[in-house]
Order: sequence, then structure tokens, then C-alpha cells
Amino acid sequence: MDLRIAILPGDGIGPEVTGQAVKALQAIGQRFGHNIETTSHLIGGAALDTVGVPLPDETLQACLESDAVLLGAVGAPKYDSNPPKLKPESALLELRKQLGVFANLRPAFLYSSLVDASPLKREIVEGTDILVVRELTGGLYFGQPRGFEGEGADERAFNTMAYSAYEVERIARIAFAAARKRRGKVTSVDKANVLETSQLWRRVVTGIAAEYSDVRLEHMYVDNCSMQLISRPRDFDVILTENLFGDILSDEAAMLTGSIGMLASASIGGRKGLYEPVHGSAPDIAGQNKANPLATIASVAMMLRYSFNLAQEADEIEAAIRDTLDLGLRTADIATAGSTILSTEEMGDQICRRLLLVASESRSLYSV
Ligand code: IPM
Ligand code: MG
Repeated sequence: MDLRIAILPGDGIGPEVTGQAVKALQAIGQRFGHNIETTSHLIGGAALDTVGVPLPDETLQACLESDAVLLGAVGAPKYDSNPPKLKPESALLELRKQLGVFANLRPAFLYSSLVDASPLKREIVEGTDILVVRELTGGLYFGQPRGFEGEGADERAFNTMAYSAYEVERIARIAFAAARKRRGKVTSVDKANVLETSQLWRRVVTGIAAEYSDVRLEHMYVDNCSMQLISRPRDFDVILTENLFGDILSDEAAMLTGSIGMLASASIGGRKGLYEPVHGSAPDIAGQNKANPLATIASVAMMLRYSFNLAQEADEIEAAIRDTLDLGLRTADIATAGSTILSTEEMGDQICRRLLLVASESRSLYSV
């Protein structure tokens, strides 16, 4: 295949982790004979500093003209007091909206060799394998009206949480279809005891469930879900939820897997797929060659799977991650006693090395 991928490194550790993911992408291209062309574009604080806006037209155009988009991270403390439209994060939200990627898939999968990196006890967390399906282009993030009004003690700020039945239906279908290929269970998370949007959400999801009689549906309030996730994570298969709840629950689910540095994501359903790690720009460790690139590398695997239907290539990347971890090779965030700590680049090199081994070579050839 000939693939054109737009790379948006962004801020903080973004350039470091996307650098390693591009290396992995090129390695898999070389291995399978795909011609992969990557171009890099500004977004977030990096774009604000250079051209004065967080999402330059050139970047958006490049994304629309590409076959898929890989993003690192956006955001840095120095922009905290910027007005909303000049915050790095606004670029990401606008990009999601423009691409129309309403479905955000965040697999929280605990690699067996990372059980001890999880803050939870082995007997609780071992075997955790959850897919968070987060609605990505609606809810409080985009609802109108929003803003500030008045001054002084009378100043008010407001946001609107709104969902149409159509928006709920299409994300519900994604969750049910995903559950069908997994363990056949959807937990739909809402706050239907308080919010009208959640009451509509629950009603629509229940209606769609009738089309998927082989999938078991349960409803759960979001506060309860945040508790159940850490007390019995193995009981979850697919979690279906709205934008803000999904943002919060996916960070919680990430910690089950040892580190937020492990969580990949795919945002699909729109004009182009957008792939990004779930973690942020981590300004505290930026530029130190210490960030974990595995979430971004795993996001490349999701890109190959979801945008290009290249399942074997995706499987190989995931196997390379698993094999590397099995050897005790770790970045600092997932290190446990006895593991070897690698830099961002060294971790990328280890993954590429496994990707480039020809299939006939046995695993016993793997060495540190
Ligand atoms: C995420 C992030 C973003 C979000 C931020 C950076 C706008 O937290 O992708 O989870 O809230 O969606
Ligand atoms: Mg988040």
C-alpha cells in the first residue's frame, strides 16, 4: 500500500514519542513492503509560538489530505491563562470536530508482564482487558451556549451538555459491534439519576441493544463506575460513555494497566482516523528522552488496523511491544524491581528491532 500519514508532534513529550512511533511505522512498512510517506505539521503550543494560532489552516488541510493522522500531545503550563480559543487544547478539539471523529476507542489492556507495575494488587487487576468507547464530538466539550458573562462577583461561566438521539445511536452501535468481537458485554455509563442527557442516552442505548441480542447490556452510573473500575476491573469488557465521563474514566482505566504511558487511542467514524496516545504532553519530563513511547507506537498499530485494515501489521506491532516488555525492558514509568530502564529512543529501537526480524527467525534470537 501507499500511505500518506500526517504527523502532528505537538508539545512537551509529543515530538519524542511520535518520533519513535514514526520509526516503528517505517519499520513495519519496510517489513511488509508498504510505502509510507510522513509529513510533520504544527499543532498546539508549537503552532501558537510559530504562527500564533493553535491549529493552522495548513495543518488542518494536511490532515484532510492525508490517509490518517498521528498526534503526539498538546498543552503546556505557559498557555494556562490564554483565552479559550488560544489554548493548545482547543486545536485538538477543533481537529476532532473537523475530522468528524465521533468515536474514540481506548483499549486498557494489562500486559501480563506489567501486572506488578499496576498500583492495584495482582489478584484484582490481572487479566484486565477493557475497551473504553468514548463519544468524542458532543457533550459538554462542544455544547452551545458556552462562555463567560458579567463581572466581579456576578461573573458567571456556563457550558451546555447536549446530545441528540442520533449522536447516541451512532456511538452505541460502535460499542455493540466492538463487544461482539470481544467478550460480548457493554457497560453504558451515565448519570441518569440527575441528567436529562443521560436519560436520553440510556433510553437510546437500550433501544439499540435490541439489534444486538447476543451482547449483554448493563447500565451504570458514572460515580459507581469509577469505583467498580478499581474494585473489579476484570468484570468490564466494553465501556460506552459520553465525552467528559469517557475522558475521566479512561485516565482511571489507564492506571490499571500500569501507566498512562501505555494507553493508545483511535478516533474514528469521520473523514480520516486520528490516532493519539491517551496521555498528555507531560511538560515535567519533556526533552529528557525518558517518556514512554509505547502508547504512541500502539496507536500506530490501531491506525493500521482501523484505517487500513492491516491486521497482521497491527498484530506484529502489538507482539513486538509484548515481547519487549516480557524481556524486562521498561521505560521509567513502568519499571519494577529487576527491569532494565530504557530511554524513549532505546525503547523505540527495541520495538523496531523486533519488527524487522524476519518471520523465520525464532524468538530465541531476541536479546537485549
Ligand atoms: C484526552 C485529553 C483531551 C481531552 C485534552 C487534551 C483536550 O485529556 O484526549 O483525553 O480532554 O479530550
Ligand atoms: Mg483526557
